[in-house]
Amino acid sequence: MFLTDYFVFSQPLYSIASGLIFLFVFNFLVTTVKRLFLLPPGPWGLPIVGYYPFLKDESYLAFDSLSKKYGPVYCLKLGLHDVVVICDWDHLKLAFADESLLARPYETFFEGLINEPSFIEMSGEPWRAHRRLSLQVLRNVGFGTSKMEDAVSTEIQQFLPTIGKSKVDFIAKILPSVSNNISLLLFGHRFDYSDAFKVELDDNMERVNQAVQFAGLTAFFPWLARIFAIFKLSGMDIIDKCMNAAEDLIQKEIDRHQVKTDMNEIEDYIDGYLVEQKNRHNKDENDEVFNNKVLLRNVTEFFAAGSETVTSTLSWAMMYLIYKPEYQDKIRTEISDVIGFDREPLYVDRNRMPFTMAFLYEAQRIGSVIAVNLLRRAARDTKIGEYNIPQDTVVIFNLWSIHRDPKLWPEPEKFDPNRFLSEDGSKAIKPPYLVPFSGGKRICLGEGLANVELFLYLVNILQKYRVRCDPDVKLSFESVFGVARRPKHLPLLTFEKIASQN
Ligand code: HEM
Repeated sequence: MFLTDYFVFSQPLYSIASGLIFLFVFNFLVTTVKRLFLLPPGPWGLPIVGYYPFLKDESYLAFDSLSKKYGPVYCLKLGLHDVVVICDWDHLKLAFADESLLARPYETFFEGLINEPSFIEMSGEPWRAHRRLSLQVLRNVGFGTSKMEDAVSTEIQQFLPTIGKSKVDFIAKILPSVSNNISLLLFGHRFDYSDAFKVELDDNMERVNQAVQFAGLTAFFPWLARIFAIFKLSGMDIIDKCMNAAEDLIQKEIDRHQVKTDMNEIEDYIDGYLVEQKNRHNKDENDEVFNNKVLLRNVTEFFAAGSETVTSTLSWAMMYLIYKPEYQDKIRTEISDVIGFDREPLYVDRNRMPFTMAFLYEAQRIGSVIAVNLLRRAARDTKIGEYNIPQDTVVIFNLWSIHRDPKLWPEPEKFDPNRFLSEDGSKAIKPPYLVPFSGGKRICLGEGLANVELFLYLVNILQKYRVRCDPDVKLSFESVFGVARRPKHLPLLTFEKIASQN
C-alpha cells in the first residue's frame, strides 16, 4: 500500500495532515501580510528559521552590515520572532524615550533551562517594582555614595599587589576583584582571592559568560535550549551545569541571611529584599511578586552583570595602553598634576583629568562590550520615526552600529581619545551618542558603580605601574562575544613599578 493510500483510508491522519498544512499556509500568509504592510523592510530568510542561519557568531556585525542595505531600522524574522533592529542614533534616541519599548521578550535568557525571570528579564509592573526596590536597597547599603567609592578603593588596594609582576593574566586577576565589589553590595562582604567558595562562583560564572551567545540561537528558538543541553550542543550543557552550580552557591549565601534574627540592620541587597518581601507579605499574604526564587535569580544576574562588563571594558583599556604607551604617559602626567603619587585617587579627581576621561570614553566606544543591548519587546503597537513596530515585536538596539557610525565618529576604527576633548584640551566632553549603558528608563542600573570602578582601577594601576607586554607579541584586536565583548588575545602583561614608587 502506498503512503497516499494510507492517508485516503485513515480519516483521522488525513484531518491532522490537512490541519497542519492549513496552519502552515495561514501562518505564512499572516507573516507575509505583516511583513509587507506593518513592519519595516528587511531580508526575508527561510521558512521557520527565518534569517537566523545567515547570522554569524558575532551577530552585531551582521546586524550592522544589514543596515547598510536595508536602512537604519529594518526587520527580520529570527525563529518565532519578528525582530526590528535599530542601528542609528536618530532612531535610537526616539526608542530610548518610547515607554512601549521598556518590556523584555516573554522568555528568560535561558528559557528551557531556567524559567524563573530575574527582574532584568521582567516586564511591566513587576519589573518596575523590582527595579525600584533594587535601586532603593542598593542606595541604602552605599550604592552611589562615598561609602561605595571607599569600598571600591579598599578593594583596589588589595588587588594592586597581585599584579605587580611579569606575565600576568590580567583578566584572571581583575575578575575576582571586580566581582568582590558586587559581592559586597549583594552579600555584605568581600572574599579573599583564594576563598574556595568565591573561586568556584567566579569560575562557574565565567564559564557561563563564555558559553552564552548574546542574542544567539536560544534567544530566538527557546524550545531548543533543553534539547541542546542534553546533546551537549552550542555550549548549552555548560550553561545548564555552571548556572545551576552558581545558583546553588548563591543560595547558600541567601540561606545564611534567612536565619539572621536582627533584620533591623539592612547590610546588603539580600537583607533589603527579604525585609521588603516580608513587609509585602504582612500587608497581603497573596502578594507573591517578591519571592525567594526571584531573589535568587536577581542576585545571580546582578553578580554576572556587575562583573563581566567592567572586566571586559578594563581589558580593552589595557589593550590600548600597551598599543599606545604614550597614552600611559599622558594619563600619568595628569595623575602627577592632580593626585600625585602619595595619596589614593578619588573619583572627584576625574573632573581635573580630561585626558584620562577621554581615554576611558574611547575605550568604552571602541570596546562596545555590550554590542547589542539586552533584547526589548514592544509592549504595544508603536512607531519609531516613520517605522511601525507592532505589539510583541522583539527590538534590538545595535549599540555597536552607533559606536562605529562614521557620521558620528570620523575614522571610527581608529582609537583616538582626542575625539572627546574640547578644542583647548581642557575638558572631556561625552556626547549623548556614547551609549555603552544603553539609555532611557531601562538604562543599565549599575552605570554609577561601573563608572567609579573604571576610573579608580585605571588610575590606581597607572599611578603604581607601567604596563607592557613582551615586545615580540603581535597585538591582535580580535574579540570574543559571550555576555560581553572582550579582547580575544589580550597578551600576558607585565606591571613594572614606576620610578617614583621605588
Ligand atoms: C562597563 C560596565 C557596564 C556596561 C557597559 C553595562 C551595560 C548594560 C546595558 C547595555 C544594559 C542593557 C540596558 C537595556 O536594556 O537597554 C545593562 C543592563 C543592566 N545592567 Fe549593566 N553594564 C555595566 C555594568 C553594570 C554593573 C556594575 C551592574 C551592577 C551593579 C549592572 C547591572 C545591570 C542591570 C541590573 C541591568 C538590567 C536593568 C533592567 O533591566 O532594568 N551593570 N547594562
